[in-house]
Amino acid sequence: MNEAIERAAGILTGAEYAIALTGAGLSVESGIPSFRGPGGLWTRYGQPSNLSYRVFSRDPQEWWENRLRDEATPDNPTYDLKAAVDAAEPNAGHIALAELESAGLLKSVITQNVDGLHGRAGSGKVLEIHGNRNYLRCVGCGKRQPREGYPITDLPPTCAECGGVIKLDTVMFGEPIPATTLAACVAEVQRCDAMLLVGTSGAVNPAAQFPLVAREHGAHIIEVNPMPTELTGAADVVITGAAGDILPALLSATKNRVNETD
Ligand code: APR
Repeated sequence: MNEAIERAAGILTGAEYAIALTGAGLSVESGIPSFRGPGGLWTRYGQPSNLSYRVFSRDPQEWWENRLRDEATPDNPTYDLKAAVDAAEPNAGHIALAELESAGLLKSVITQNVDGLHGRAGSGKVLEIHGNRNYLRCVGCGKRQPREGYPITDLPPTCAECGGVIKLDTVMFGEPIPATTLAACVAEVQRCDAMLLVGTSGAVNPAAQFPLVAREHGAHIIEVNPMPTELTGAADVVITGAAGDILPALLSATKNRVNETD
């Protein structure tokens, strides 16, 4: 593993514009279950249908009624995920990524996670491609606002500015990624010359395409994961292990290289 970490540190210190793409595995050590693999939410409860967004759109009031019920009733994926995220703190992996950014060695994080832990760990440029569960978003005008403190009385809640239906900011299966967010992610992918993949199975598009697109224009790909994934074959360096162990070691190896060259 140390040889792989040293190679990865060489890539990060040699890169002009390294970015990270993170998935649920990064937050496992914060107590939030992943979706796939052993103990994953979808493994336990089944993956939601790709028609989820259509079901919401067809009857937003019923969707909200079901959602608020599920958030308050144990033994369903909504309840389990809410309880875990409510209790979660950033872990050593999140903090290491924030410190890589502070050291100028990581320019942005594209995360598939909706838990908001990158921001709480101190990362500055975080692109939340699947949204953030702590926010609401208007389907009409796209306006986002914090969910906490927002009075959800009438169902569905509607936008004070445009009258549109308000949903959770989290992107649903079958829902288009908000255009501005997707464009920002694509710009980062196009610009990067190194991409650090952490804790993602590479099962969901468009995020799963990002490493392949980056590789096409010559970016080096580093994967951090205890298991092989759909993306392992595209990685130049595969570091097998948990993000909470690997990322602090990678941060240390990278800083040592920077100090050696100073
Ligand atoms: N450190 C690093 N990786 C880990 C750890 C860990 N401690 N524990 C598990 N993993 C890895 C697993 O091996 C797996 O490859 O994290 C990955 C989690 O994969 P998924 O559960 O599929 O999560 P993700 O890739 O983020 O899913 C993408 O699917 O359902 C949608 O919107 C959801 O954003 C999610 C998307």
